[in-house]
Amino acid sequence: MKIIIGADHGGVELKDLMVKHLETLAHEVEDIGTHGPQSVDYPNYAAMVAAAVTGGRADRGILICGSGIGMSISANRFHGVRAALVTEPYAAKMSRRHNDSNVLCLGGRFLGRDLAFAIVDAWLVEPFEGDRHQRRLTLVDELARTRL
Ligand code: RB5
Repeated sequence: MKIIIGADHGGVELKDLMVKHLETLAHEVEDIGTHGPQSVDYPNYAAMVAAAVTGGRADRGILICGSGIGMSISANRFHGVRAALVTEPYAAKMSRRHNDSNVLCLGGRFLGRDLAFAIVDAWLVEPFEGDRHQRRLTLVDELARTRL
């Protein structure tokens, strides 16, 4: 799977560990940074990951900031992104089964490495169930388009 990953300074430590983890699982990883502890603005990274996923350059995206919240707010502004902020593996699975999440958001300041790896591992293999869940996702897009 081609995975694009980005983080701000609050998520860079976990992001660097995650890149290595994904590579050991033989995924193709595009790491867009950040690459150090200097303060940066998370919306720039969310926008780059969103564009890669919606444009088809990557199959999935992973975004990590301090809490994951700013990344999830930002990524979900982009049409075609279904970003899920999760803190444990079951929610990651459900975000795939019911929501067809294509971007995973994590909080680097409170998730330990092993829990983060377990979340990502679960998220990468879980399939979307489609059917009534697809109908609801289609409704999400329709309402967003017509009720503004
Ligand atoms: C940066 O200090 C922090 O605000 C950011 O990483 C993230 O947690 C925002 O939601």
